[in-house]
Amino acid sequence: MAVLSFELCGKDAASKARAGTLRTDHGTIETPIFMPVGTVGSVKAVSQQQLKEDVNAQIILGNTYHLYLRPGLEVLEAAGGLHKFMGWDRPILTDSGGYQVFSLAGKRKLTEEGALFQSHIDGSRHLFTPESVMDIQRVIGADIIMAFDECPPYPSDYAYAKKSMDLTHRWLDRCFKRLAETPDKYGHTQNLFPIVQGSTYTDLRRASCEYVASKGAVGNAIGGLSVGEPEEMMYEHAAHCCEILPADKPRYLMGVGTPWNILENISLGIDMFDCVMPTRNGRNAMLFTSKGVINIDNKKWEKDFSPLDDGIGSPFSEYYTKAYMRHLVKAKEILALTVASVHNLNFYLWLVKQARAHILAGDFNSWKNEMIPVLKTRL
Ligand code: GUN
Repeated sequence: MAVLSFELCGKDAASKARAGTLRTDHGTIETPIFMPVGTVGSVKAVSQQQLKEDVNAQIILGNTYHLYLRPGLEVLEAAGGLHKFMGWDRPILTDSGGYQVFSLAGKRKLTEEGALFQSHIDGSRHLFTPESVMDIQRVIGADIIMAFDECPPYPSDYAYAKKSMDLTHRWLDRCFKRLAETPDKYGHTQNLFPIVQGSTYTDLRRASCEYVASKGAVGNAIGGLSVGEPEEMMYEHAAHCCEILPADKPRYLMGVGTPWNILENISLGIDMFDCVMPTRNGRNAMLFTSKGVINIDNKKWEKDFSPLDDGIGSPFSEYYTKAYMRHLVKAKEILALTVASVHNLNFYLWLVKQARAHILAGDFNSWKNEMIPVLKTRL
């Protein structure tokens, strides 16, 4: 059907923040946006109905590495792609597997051809190449698919970072070529986003942004950040990349981050985010709220019968109390995982929605500066 389109609807007066509308064949996404992570075709502990009705997620993320290993391509193809398989008719983005091969797989070896790795599930050996990763993402059928890249660890020395970036660029050309040679499988258009790398070296980041920008993709991603470097360094590189990447295309900062990371990066010109933090930290008793961060394990919540968060306009987050949530955690009830995950996602989606409203009103920057200390408060 139609290639992804992006329309800017407004800009903040005192920062680089923008509000936009991203159109895919599975629906429209209002940016800035946060994408819940559904690695294996499931946002952990959250049902598709909850994602729609409570969280109102506009797009979710899946992972090539995990989905390829399990359930595997035969099942996904027989199902008619991931949307049908999991019963999700809104947009999906899949990460390419590059990052996961390096963070999860057992033994792995990088060559010009691709990445040889051992499955973290059964130790079986596999080869990912830019071509195979495009073919796999064709079978999964996400609306936005990511280029196969290498995310160098932090810190990386300059020589390694440059070699890795050059390889990621050569792999990018192979991704575009393969995608052009293969048709869309399920009738909707799949859109490839390249990924900027370059570790923490300003000249490499510049070179990578220029290379990526020259490809004229419908959207661009920034990878290799939030991998252990100081926050200020992440902001510095994100700001630099935003100056070079085309302003009329969406910019996606991969794997970021805390609520304050998200607001700071929105102010620099980032439009899209994903992170396991709301769900993973939620499963570990950490709640993000409009008044600050809560460790619900703490005894101070034992008899606090106030709602989890009454500041985000969410019936779900008002329904459950802090005392009840603490009880669920203490009793190791599986409902704790669901309530914490749904609430944290509600909060993240509320935050980006507020950000958008303030961008459109032109007062995003002052709102952000007021919000950040509140969000960081340990309650
Ligand atoms: N997720 C977080 N960072 C990265 C990255 O650099 N590359 C990819 N492919 N995924 C990521």
